[in-house]
Amino acid sequence: MSKDTYYKDHWVDIEPERLERYEAQFILGKRGDKLLATAEIAVGQIVADYGCGPGYLSVELANRVGPEGHVHAFDINADFVERTRKRVADEGLVDRVTVTHLTTDMVPLDDDSLNRLVIKNVLVYVDDPLSSLREFRRVVMPGGKVHAIDSDFYMAAFDPIDVDDWRHVLDAGIHAFRTPAIGRKMYGMALGAGFTEVAVEVVSVPDSTGRMLSFIINTAGYAREGGRHDEEVVSRVVEVASKAVEDGTFFALNPQFLVTATV
Ligand SMILES: C[S@@+](CC[C@H](N)C(=O)[O-])C[C@H]1O[C@@H](n2cnc3c(N)ncnc32)[C@H](O)[C@@H]1O
Repeated sequence: MSKDTYYKDHWVDIEPERLERYEAQFILGKRGDKLLATAEIAVGQIVADYGCGPGYLSVELANRVGPEGHVHAFDINADFVERTRKRVADEGLVDRVTVTHLTTDMVPLDDDSLNRLVIKNVLVYVDDPLSSLREFRRVVMPGGKVHAIDSDFYMAAFDPIDVDDWRHVLDAGIHAFRTPAIGRKMYGMALGAGFTEVAVEVVSVPDSTGRMLSFIINTAGYAREGGRHDEEVVSRVVEVASKAVEDGTFFALNPQFLVTATV
């Protein structure tokens, strides 16, 4: 994988253990209501799930739009596309969801064809988030909304991981994120992309069960692949976090920025 495009390539090609970790990491659970509230997803809408991963959000959206609505799920990873198709089939929602494998950052839909486009924890990885937001505005009809959910990785906090140790891991693995501070940037970008109205909320659901552990393990992996890391520090971060999850003392906060932009 090229260092310059690692942030994208590591999604096109995902090693099997990481793929399995995502099955647990991306479960939406009760957070879904909070993360989707301002998107105002309703029965009968045509909605896109851009960067659908294993498809939990696509299923949630399909349930919310009902049989009169439709969901277009997109991803650049072929395994995720297959997993989303299977998840949708298992839920009996095949007629309501179209799953498409993407090879570019263009959305393969006509102008003004959607009521909503939801993008959750994906904008951080795209080549050019401003261009992507403009592209999303193209496919959403006037009065419709783009609902972007993302982290700001410099704001994530973990206990009992040492602050400087975590900063080392994040810095050494930073090539895995195209725009690591995307959370704080989305408001200005949405304005720059020409949306008429841009609303921002921040939702922070504490994690005391270890949901974020796979993110920590993945970031340690990116740091190791980058080769600019101190192995002792990287190993210590993973060990400290894993032990804390085991003994029930782990605590993490990863604020999610919700930017709801009206076309
Ligand atoms: C952190 S995961 C989030 C998955 C899902 N949205 C969720 O929250 O459960 C990032 C997803 O974005 C996809 N992705 C990364 N870059 C992309 C791009 N340029 N276009 C479309 N999907 C992309 C990855 O393959 C992966 O499924």
